[in-house]
Amino acid sequence: MHIFKNKTDLINHINDLKSKKKTLGFVPTMGALHQGHASLIIKGLNDNDVVAVSVFVNPTQFDNQEDLVKYPRTLDKDVELLKEISKDRIIVYAPSVEDVYGENVSSNSFSYDGLEHEMEGRFRDGHFDGVGTIVKRLFEIVKPDRAYFGEKDFQQLMIIKKLVDKYNIPVRVIGCKIHRATDGLAMSSRNTRLTPEHREAAPFIHKTLKTAKEKFGTKSANVVTKWVENQFASHNLLELEYFIVADVETLKTVKRKSNKKSYRAFIAVYADDIRLIDNIALN
Ligand code: PAJ
Repeated sequence: MHIFKNKTDLINHINDLKSKKKTLGFVPTMGALHQGHASLIIKGLNDNDVVAVSVFVNPTQFDNQEDLVKYPRTLDKDVELLKEISKDRIIVYAPSVEDVYGENVSSNSFSYDGLEHEMEGRFRDGHFDGVGTIVKRLFEIVKPDRAYFGEKDFQQLMIIKKLVDKYNIPVRVIGCKIHRATDGLAMSSRNTRLTPEHREAAPFIHKTLKTAKEKFGTKSANVVTKWVENQFASHNLLELEYFIVADVETLKTVKRKSNKKSYRAFIAVYADDIRLIDNIALN
């Protein structure tokens, strides 16, 4: 398996693939790979000759320094998982901060037509500027035909689509379903940091989303939101940061339901100091 630590070597290799008319899929990640990432990579392998996977904990998208420091970094294990998926059709880009940013570790600012002001944008200052900066830079380096993003980070997926549109980046962005553990918890690199007690409690998040979806069939967004807030108010291990029912196009909180629109519920929860997010389609 080819593992590139610097962009010059990676670009040379990709140019060689392109000269052989190979199609290239791309899955950007921050590593600590799990079956959720694997599902994106497998989809990429079905659609393309080769898939590039980047493993890079991007400092500019963290609003919380402690989260950045504690973010799991497990490159050797990640490579083992990738080898189990395919030994010869995956290439890895695992750069240093310097290779990506040089001396200037900062983000550019982006406008995503308001998508950035909702949910994660509201609670994580500068997060989507950091995401836009790194993903745009990675697209420029990798120049993939298709790029795969999980609906687990639904707002991120929408923002990347907007970024590609606004900057005319020649890549097809493909959204992929949320991959869950058998107990319903959405897979996440941060799950490895949960204590056994919090790990056992965490499926409550998806369970509550599923009931919220049922209730949304007959009740208003406001009533469903209040119900979810009450469920968490009486929970002693999980602390709700937000629960929002939003329009999937604008990501704005729903005031009044219309049967012409599609809605999704979004949630962020703290399990001790670990922040977990999830979402579910409502109609
Ligand atoms: P990371 O959290 O590592 O996620 C990489 C990709 O995997 C994202 O597109 C994410 O939505 C997807 N993913 C994670 N868990 C998933 C799950 N359970 N089911 C389906 N897809 C899942 O998202 C990032 O990294 C970063 O913000 C990044 C885009 C790499 C920019 O730094």
